[in-house]
Amino acid sequence: MKEKIERLQEKIVEAKLGGGQKRIDAQHDKGKLTARERIHFLLDEGSFEEIGMLVRHRSTDFGLDKNRPLGDGVVTGYGTVNGRLVYVFSQDFTVFGGSLSETHAEKICKVMDLAMKNGAPVIGLNDSGGARIQEGVVSLGGYADIFYRNTLASGVVPQISAIMGPCAGGAVYSPAITDFIMMVENTSYMFVTGPNVVKTVTHEEVTSEELGGANTHASKSGVTHFAYTNEIECINGIKTLLSYMPQNCEDETPTQPYEGGDEKREDLLNIIPENPNQPYDIRDVINEVVDEGSFYEIHKDYAENIVVGFSRLAGRSIGIVANQPAFLAGVLDINSSRKGARFVRFCDAFNIPLLVFEDVPGFLPGTDQEWNAIITNGAKLLYAFSEATVPRITVITRKAYGGAYDVMNSKHIGADMNFAWPTAEIAVMGAKGAVEIIFRNEIKASKDPEKTLQEKTDEYTEKFADPYRAANRGFVDEVIKPDETRIKLIKAFKMLENKVDNLPRKKHGNIPL
Ligand code: HXC
Repeated sequence: MKEKIERLQEKIVEAKLGGGQKRIDAQHDKGKLTARERIHFLLDEGSFEEIGMLVRHRSTDFGLDKNRPLGDGVVTGYGTVNGRLVYVFSQDFTVFGGSLSETHAEKICKVMDLAMKNGAPVIGLNDSGGARIQEGVVSLGGYADIFYRNTLASGVVPQISAIMGPCAGGAVYSPAITDFIMMVENTSYMFVTGPNVVKTVTHEEVTSEELGGANTHASKSGVTHFAYTNEIECINGIKTLLSYMPQNCEDETPTQPYEGGDEKREDLLNIIPENPNQPYDIRDVINEVVDEGSFYEIHKDYAENIVVGFSRLAGRSIGIVANQPAFLAGVLDINSSRKGARFVRFCDAFNIPLLVFEDVPGFLPGTDQEWNAIITNGAKLLYAFSEATVPRITVITRKAYGGAYDVMNSKHIGADMNFAWPTAEIAVMGAKGAVEIIFRNEIKASKDPEKTLQEKTDEYTEKFADPYRAANRGFVDEVIKPDETRIKLIKAFKMLENKVDNLPRKKHGNIPL
């Protein structure tokens, strides 16, 4: 027995060394952690149970039969984060550059299958040179097996991808299907074709970081939801994100103990500027309303005219979608609609109630927007809100104009409770634009067109730029004082806690993609 146990121990030691100390040192020299170190920092101390440590690849071409490291370049298993079960795979760059072989893929698929059957999140820590080149199509098949499972698991269990090294070619499509992507500045990149191919095809000279680094994807493409300065921050980001999510689509919205009360928040009285055309930061409103320090923003540097993120209200997770008057006046455009829609669908899939703060002057005009399909993209947000069956509440802080009024979780598309501040202006369009259309002839014929325009604008503002017509109709349930917002929201979400709402029977809808 002793010998047999020693033999096992030797294998464990061998497997844990991955591609060997030299390659581990090289990994550290690049400022990167190893696959096992990442798991160590992610999971609760001592909770990791490895699956498939002794798997070896079955390839024989190009001398691979003489190089069959234990584990085959990926560490897989399960453990807990703050006491809650998660499944994890962590690619080991020290073994064949973390490249994906048939067996490497099988290991990932095994934990994904377990996650789906047992209803717990899957965390992928990606650091890979892509398809194991020596294996050819077998490796491509392995990727497709993972993509297929990513798709089946979508909406069943949360899936988070941290990119901690290269992620290129078709390999990018597994993270792309998952719910959230995180990247690390300067050590990770994602692209379908790298700088060399780009140079050959389009003659553009671009570095890997510029083409597909963390900051590029966080601000330009929106591919990544988060960019962190180092791996530890990224791993902590995963833990924070998980804290807002349920384990699976059948699970309840997570609640954390919360000591604070449903007190008035008087600072909310001083946020909206006197001049309705002056910007303010909607985050100031959000942070005043929610449990202290609980707002975790997603896609912070992308489509900044809409703010989305998780938060807590009286301890319970909520998803927040808010127009941002401090950026492009909070207008809705293609990117902000896509950003908002994706987030709304995540929250709805995982029973996270939605809170909307609305201050939107309308949709962004222009050929760029029209030719790039603001119609189709704007419809995504409309569709996402309309089909969401979680508790949904809107607070109109200031402008709610035009089609954007309908889109931003209006009563008409299924919101449960709509509040407005006395500063709300709910109308088809801004007063000046409206007057220029409906009083065009009168203004033209007038001796002093400027004066007439101003008079008519004042008249229109007086009549329409408030929340009372909407409240008369019941489109707004209550006009509330800003400092009571937190109290009202806590009560309303509590009232909606057991909401049951079903969509008409269908195979699935057809969101305008
Ligand atoms: C097999 C690979 C590999 C791969 C790296 N290695 N990528 N082995 N298949 N795809 C091996 C290297 O041979 C090397 O082995 C070790 O991993 C470390 O690689 P280095 O090149 O020394 O590291 P570095 O300088 O950091 O460069 C990392 C890299 C580079 C940029 C990722 O290795 C690279 O360009 N690799 C090839 C990338 C690629 O073209 N992949 C296929 C893409 S197509 P030794 O023994 O020397 O240490 C694809 C399609 C997926 O992935 C489609 C899905 C549908």
